[in-house]
Amino acid sequence: MTRQITSVIGGKNAPEGSPYSSTNPARPSEVVATVPLADAATFARACRTAAAAQKEWARVPAPVRGRVIASIGRLVEANTESLARLVTEEIGKPYAEALGEVREIVDTCDFFLGEGRRLYGQTVPSEMPDKNLFTFRVPVGVAAVITAGNFPVAVPSWYLVPALLCGNAVVWKPAEYAAASAHALYRLFAAAGLPDGVLNIVFADGARTYEGLDQALSEGTVHKVGFTGSSAVGRSVGELCGRHLQSACLELGGKNPMVVMPDADLDLAVEGALFSGFGTAGQRCTSLGTVIVHRDVHDEFVRRYVQAVQAAKIGDPNGDVLYGPLLDHKFAERYEEYLTWVQPHHTVLPGPTGRMDGEGLYYHPVVVDGVRPDDRIFLEETFGPIVGVTAFDSLDEAIELANRPGYGLSSSIYTTDPKAAFRFRAGVSAGMVSVNNSTSGAEAHLPFGGNGKSGNGSRQSGVWVLDQFTRWQAMNWDYSGKLQKAQMDVADITPDLAFRL
Ligand code: UN1
Repeated sequence: MTRQITSVIGGKNAPEGSPYSSTNPARPSEVVATVPLADAATFARACRTAAAAQKEWARVPAPVRGRVIASIGRLVEANTESLARLVTEEIGKPYAEALGEVREIVDTCDFFLGEGRRLYGQTVPSEMPDKNLFTFRVPVGVAAVITAGNFPVAVPSWYLVPALLCGNAVVWKPAEYAAASAHALYRLFAAAGLPDGVLNIVFADGARTYEGLDQALSEGTVHKVGFTGSSAVGRSVGELCGRHLQSACLELGGKNPMVVMPDADLDLAVEGALFSGFGTAGQRCTSLGTVIVHRDVHDEFVRRYVQAVQAAKIGDPNGDVLYGPLLDHKFAERYEEYLTWVQPHHTVLPGPTGRMDGEGLYYHPVVVDGVRPDDRIFLEETFGPIVGVTAFDSLDEAIELANRPGYGLSSSIYTTDPKAAFRFRAGVSAGMVSVNNSTSGAEAHLPFGGNGKSGNGSRQSGVWVLDQFTRWQAMNWDYSGKLQKAQMDVADITPDLAFRL
């Protein structure tokens, strides 16, 4: 069924723009939705609309905003199946995973509905009598949120939910190849009773979004940017924000390592490497990049891993499969380029590589053994169903290899030795560390984010994201009736520093 959707600004459809079709990657001839892609001026207009609506929204008491978040959670929950089906249809995510993705939105709402009754500030002692100090969390204003389509509804909710709860207005620019899923989520948010203009959705391509964002930042109608996507685009979004003295919350790519120690439960490690390498067709920012396996167990690990990969079902995402098609043509093309990075010194397992026969964007799973630290395949993100394998001799070497690509999102170690687990945690540069668990599948209330090429240190989820969507305001109130000067009019209690026992 083809849906016709448009951007929505201030509660009104904005139908102008150049036509785009979002297709079903399992049957690319099937159009899921048509949507006009807006120009830069429309994006900037949405930001002005948001800025005008934000002031009233910030005056709504935070516990009441929390109740709106509660309603969003209930609405999403009540629409779980239809939203998950749509995600599966539009980006080819297996239905079981799509259900998990919808659950992640509900979990996020469940966490933040209570935050509306907390959103604590502090009372702080003053260095002078008859003076009180306080801190308040103040909404930033308007957040422009630009998201990828591999998690077309869950990852956006990590931005939208806390941003709205904190009293901000939002202009959301989702990935166009996931437009229908994004529009459905927008409608669920709107049904919760958000006033017009508090949440706006704008469909636009990358270049127009950048231009519109530049304009909005110049006009002073955007005060925070949230971006999930590639490291290259994240770099330019970060640069743009820096030029306007605004900060970005960047959630970028990963080359996530999994270290397998000689004492690891190999079957467990294989299971983890199968899900994190090939679940979501390897298209999570947290997907496994390279297995760094101890030389003593390398051959046995590879044997079992390849066996597991061979046994995995790939196909119709409505069925019980490990993974379905790639997200979209653009991703399939890019993935085919990554396959050209395979070199003669690599061993490619289990066999065929590239696109499978048939209409859908289905690709064979690829394990590349014998990867070396200077290989492109080792150093760069390869979004798609491909996992590298390399061997190590000591834990220090494994940590060095894990950090070498310069990303730093997620990581994992399989071991039964607590010393190895904690040494790895301390040495690895990643924002997230799993022990005896896959690199992907982070829970919705732990800090999520990376370092290096994976981000600028910002963290999403849980209480940590509140610092993205609020700024601290410090207040002091002197009721002494006179001017008490800080650092100068402070009582001095004289110690006897020469005192000895
Ligand atoms: C992403 O791919 O951008 O931890 C996010 C995970 C998911 C989120 C992935 N909860 O794998």
